[in-house]
Amino acid sequence: MKNHLWENKNIVITGTSSGIGEALMMALSGINCRIFALDRVSKTPPSNTKAEIIPLTVDITDDENMKSVAGEILAKTDSIDYLFNNAGITTHGRMDETHIDVFRKTFNINFFGNIHLTLLLIEAIKKARGAVMVTSTVSGLYGIPGRSAYSSSKAALHAAYESLRIELSEFGVRSIIFCPPYTKTALRTSGLDSKGNQLNEEQAKGNIKTPEEVAQFMISAAEDPNSRLVIIDKSGFFVKWMRLLSPAYLEKTLFKRLFADFH
Ligand SMILES: NC(=O)c1ccc[n+]([C@@H]2O[C@H](COP(=O)([O-])OP(=O)(O)OC[C@H]3O[C@@H](n4cnc5c(N)ncnc54)[C@H](OP(=O)(O)O)[C@@H]3O)[C@@H](O)[C@H]2O)c1
Repeated sequence: MKNHLWENKNIVITGTSSGIGEALMMALSGINCRIFALDRVSKTPPSNTKAEIIPLTVDITDDENMKSVAGEILAKTDSIDYLFNNAGITTHGRMDETHIDVFRKTFNINFFGNIHLTLLLIEAIKKARGAVMVTSTVSGLYGIPGRSAYSSSKAALHAAYESLRIELSEFGVRSIIFCPPYTKTALRTSGLDSKGNQLNEEQAKGNIKTPEEVAQFMISAAEDPNSRLVIIDKSGFFVKWMRLLSPAYLEKTLFKRLFADFH
């Protein structure tokens, strides 16, 4: 980690109660910086950290709650160096069985909640010539079977943050779309099924990443001034390139590999 890039910086992270967001907060907690840790459940911040950790309770789908939390952040600083829009949920189910309310709920968290926070804090990010990172996913690189709501809510973020990157380049603001692969977190427990019930699924099988490993990739990506679309493993590179080179082959592979996920 390039500590000097984080020293004395104001950092906002959403989804710090568990998984990738918590690992990111902990990875940065040894630095002398200020971390606004946003979550639905207020947790006592870890003690003995060099960082000043300020926990703020927010449901990112609640507009009034978001405005008030953004106000609390902006009362402490008018300059934000890093915004990690990380909070999110997954949704599993075939598209032809997925209720429209499940699409709406998924977009409210993964897309609108994320965009709203960016808009509320954008002037402070401009002032700092800061960086906005959004945690997307490999499933945001193509419509994944059994994941239509999740994939589409994340893919929509790609377009929004690409626009933002171009528009705000003259202010020195960077916009990074980060696409981790399967990671060992609570995502599949807390997600939704096609009817809106809690998912409670087991972790993906295989040699999947830990949240701590993913957090280190996020930090490196934020430190690199050229980061745009950040992919960190071969599953992501496969999807990224196959969608251009041979979408038919990509779709056949996804059909076979994920057959059980949509049957
Ligand atoms: N795990 C994977 O395989 C994987 C792969 C690629 C991308 N991702 C992305 O990584 C991000 C972090 O997920 P994770 O894997 O670390 O799962 P996680 O452990 O379930 O963390 C998700 C976080 O988002 C928060 N959150 C959910 N809905 C919220 C809301 N309405 N308002 C405020 N906070 C909310 C959760 O808070 P609560 O504790 O209150 O629910 C939790 O802190 C997500 O955007 C996910 O899509 C995960």
